[in-house]
This record gives sequence, structure tokens and C-alpha cells, in this order.
Amino acid sequence: AGQTTMQMERTFIAIKPDGTNRGLIGEIIARFEKKGYKLVAMKAVKPSKELAETHYDALKEKPFFGPLVEFICSGLVIAMVWEGTGVVKTGRQMIGATNPLESAPGTIRGDLGIDVGRNVIHGSDAVETAEREIGIWFKPEELVDWDQTVKQWIY
Ligand code: TYD
Repeated sequence: AGQTTMQMERTFIAIKPDGTNRGLIGEIIARFEKKGYKLVAMKAVKPSKELAETHYDALKEKPFFGPLVEFICSGLVIAMVWEGTGVVKTGRQMIGATNPLESAPGTIRGDLGIDVGRNVIHGSDAVETAEREIGIWFKPEELVDWDQTVKQWIY
């Protein structure tokens, strides 16, 4: 079929060091797969301080910024790009509220977390933020152009 590069929406999702340490990588990836979204990039990284500070730049005046950066750099992060219709907003709904004590049951944070400073997963909050974050974590050539064979059920 012709590759007229239909530009699907993309979001940046990262499993934070608490999630990787607790063995939740498969569980989290499975939720995005089962929802029907398409994985276009993934890598395992132990982020540098510079990377974490750049990623969370908008929060640099917050009191929790220092501890947040330290936490993100403390272990393994699984950085991913997921693609599909409405993936930014729906991804945020699947993740749940920032504070896991207020995240609805059925959401990733609601099911898997307790502490706001250890809330398992990150997801971009807007399409523009997603573009910025994907650019911080990935080189363009790391985004894989591939055909999903079950495309007729993926939107
Ligand atoms: P934020 O961007 O407000 O939330 P979200 O991750 O849901 O988009 O905050 C970024 C991270 O900062 C959040 O996931 C966890 C951490 N954080 C704290 O540690 N304490 C806080 O009071 C808040 C609001 C966030």
C-alpha cells in the first residue's frame, strides 16, 4: 500500500524507576498493546541528570523538582513512543491522576501505585508536549516505521 505518511498522533510514555524495579514493565506495555495502540519506539535508559532536568524543565520552580529529578535518574526508565488516534489524551486517562491515591481504579496509577513521588509512569499531557518530549528522548531514526498486520482493527 502507498505510504502517504498518514501522521497519526504520538505520545511519549516512560515507565519510571519504581515501575521497572517492581517488575511492572510487561503489565504496563500490555495495557497499551491491548488498547490497540502501536509501539513505534522503545529503549531502556538510566537517564542523566541533564536529560531528566530537560524533560521536567516546566517544573523547575516546584519544591519537588530536585527529588523528582534524583528519582528519575535513580534507576532504569523504559522510554516509549506510542501512536494512534487520541493517544495523548487517552494515554493520560489510562495512566490516571498524578496522585495515585486519587487515580481511579482501572488506571495504571490507580491500580499500581500509592505515592505521588513514585507514581510508576509518565505520559505527555498534550500533543505539543509529546513532540517536545519525543525529541528529548529519541533520535528521529529511532522511531520505527513499520506496518501492523492487524491494521484493520487498529485506529
Ligand atoms: P506533573 O507534571 O504535575 O504530573 P503528571 O506526571 O501527572 O503529568 O508532575 C510531574 C511529576 O512530579 C509527577 O508525575 C510526580 C511528581 N510530583 C511530585 O513528586 N509531587 C507533587 O506534588 C506533584 C504534583 C508531582
